[in-house]
Amino acid sequence: MPVGMTLTKFLHEEQRRHPDSSGNFTSLFSDLVTAAKIISREVRKAGLGGIIGAAGTKNVHGEEVQKLDELANEMFVRTMEHGGHLAAMASEEMDDIIHVDGRYPKGKYVLLFDPLDGSSNIDVNISVGTIFSILRVADGGNVTAKDFLKPGMEQVCAGYILYGSSTMLVYTTGHGVHGFTLDPSVGEFFLSHMDIKIPSSGKIFSINEGNSRHWLPGTVQYIDKIKSNGREMTARYVGSLVADFHRNLLKGGIFLYPADRKSTRGKLRLLYEANPLAFIVEQAGGAASTGEGRIMEVVPGELHQRTPLIIGSRADVEEAVSFLNAPVA
Ligand code: AHG
Ligand code: MN
Ligand code: MN
Repeated sequence: MPVGMTLTKFLHEEQRRHPDSSGNFTSLFSDLVTAAKIISREVRKAGLGGIIGAAGTKNVHGEEVQKLDELANEMFVRTMEHGGHLAAMASEEMDDIIHVDGRYPKGKYVLLFDPLDGSSNIDVNISVGTIFSILRVADGGNVTAKDFLKPGMEQVCAGYILYGSSTMLVYTTGHGVHGFTLDPSVGEFFLSHMDIKIPSSGKIFSINEGNSRHWLPGTVQYIDKIKSNGREMTARYVGSLVADFHRNLLKGGIFLYPADRKSTRGKLRLLYEANPLAFIVEQAGGAASTGEGRIMEVVPGELHQRTPLIIGSRADVEEAVSFLNAPVA
């Protein structure tokens, strides 16, 4: 791995290597990196700024909004809107799409994001993250919500920023998955994880076992099986998808938030969470499924659509899906 390779330099080299990636995209990505640095700075001092805790409102999903969620959302929109590369944005925290302010030029990409994933962990100083997905649109001038309702296969870029023991940015444009770590002393992301590949199977399983009374029979049978078949499995569940996903991406394993009797369509959001992570995991050699089919092929019907998500090492996902689809004995 080249020592001291900054994200900026890496992006320019990628652009040269892949003629399909335009200068516009590289510049859009630079804006995104700036937004990531700003949110990272705010997360790092959250305990000091009076921004911990609930904002007193609920988001479109009926969940309590944390103050830092609002702040991250606002910062993302403000940093991204004047770059001239976006036609519009959609955020997990906003009911409708966000049009770029009329004062700024419009571009040919749209950005979808979960500004702060794992927000229930903010108050207790546990890793949270930002997840993003970028699509290209035909006519930036006339974007509607429909332009966002594309299957994950149409993403041109997806990634996340993890505010963990260090701040990391992991992304793919369809040419492998690369990870960068922020050096806060110089304010730059440096290449730390080149061409990440997920092990084909792993020992970690991540599921909220508190939901087990709602589980469908296939989920019960699968979890029973992996606990009792002689494989050394270990349970890990942070409750921040981005942190659970990142750990399993590097170490191998499986994360499940399946459909159950309580969350009949799953809990996680297709466009802001499942699709971007599915693009990354597939590029890393893993798999992502709804339990019935490939996440990346789901045609979304609405912006805030939820989906069951089974994601991680390919062999583990295939095994889980075979249980979820099995007829009830
Ligand atoms: P968000 O904070 O963006 O609303 O996402 C929370 C999600 C995800 O990060 C995590 O994997 C999942 O909710 C945890 O849900 P449970 O608490 O139901 O296990
Ligand atoms: Mn989330
Ligand atoms: Mn969120």
